[in-house]
Amino acid sequence: MTAKPTALQELPADLDRYRLPKHVAVIMDGNGRWAKRQGLPRIMGHRRGVDVLKDLLRCCKDWGVPALTAYAFSTENWGRPLEEVDFLMMLFERVLRRELQEMMQENVQIQFVGNLSALPQSLQDEIERSVNDTKQNRGIQFTVATNYGGRQEILQACQAIASAVQQGKLQPEEIDEELFSRHLYTAHVGDPDLLIRTSGEMRLSNFLLWQMAYAEMYITEALWPDFDRAEFHRALCAYQQRDRRFGKV
Ligand code: IPE
Ligand code: IPE
Ligand code: MG
Repeated sequence: MTAKPTALQELPADLDRYRLPKHVAVIMDGNGRWAKRQGLPRIMGHRRGVDVLKDLLRCCKDWGVPALTAYAFSTENWGRPLEEVDFLMMLFERVLRRELQEMMQENVQIQFVGNLSALPQSLQDEIERSVNDTKQNRGIQFTVATNYGGRQEILQACQAIASAVQQGKLQPEEIDEELFSRHLYTAHVGDPDLLIRTSGEMRLSNFLLWQMAYAEMYITEALWPDFDRAEFHRALCAYQQRDRRFGKV
């Protein structure tokens, strides 16, 4: 992370620190379009996107948001050109290696959700190392969705539950929302209170389908590489103006 002082270091005065979301999820979209607008190859957008995510993580820590989940690679993203997929895998691995020491200093606990077994082995090793090394850290819970698909996550939970039933370890009537949630990749963290998607797209793209049942959604036209603290501030202001009724009156 950069040493230079960042604007909006402290929680802006117009935000109520007691009503901040406990968990923010982000669909980091628009890297390719950002790069194209600058006349750069798409991968430059991804590279810049990493810096933006780093500052958002630090901002969550500075402002008192205890959990951040970021969508880094979907199960559908394998359909992109091979060079881009390869670049992303290499980037994830390099960033994890480079940032581990700083995550320790910053007391970040990193976790991953998704079908990790399909990732390159060297990336899986780096993931395992960062998860293990940071597991005692309590500063902020940072979850990265990599080769993640919401439907696939629900299916693997169904399979695990069905096999527990088949083995007689579980009765069908015991399957409730709480038990189901415990079988999802996200068992370690609560459901997101706020979902932010950049680049103006109004869809979930298979992200946290179960967990997002009552998340507030905030969509900004800003492209991910331009999503700065001022943008996050706007998202949190919008969130604090929402009336979260959860079906009640
Ligand atoms: C999001 O930016 C990053 C990933 C999906 C890995 P995109 O790469 O989707 O950028 P656009 O949507 O093409 O602009
Ligand atoms: C969603 O972005 C996935 C990630 C941000 C990792 P996409 O760019 O892949 O989504 P679509 O294709 O526009 O739905
Ligand atoms: Mg996109």
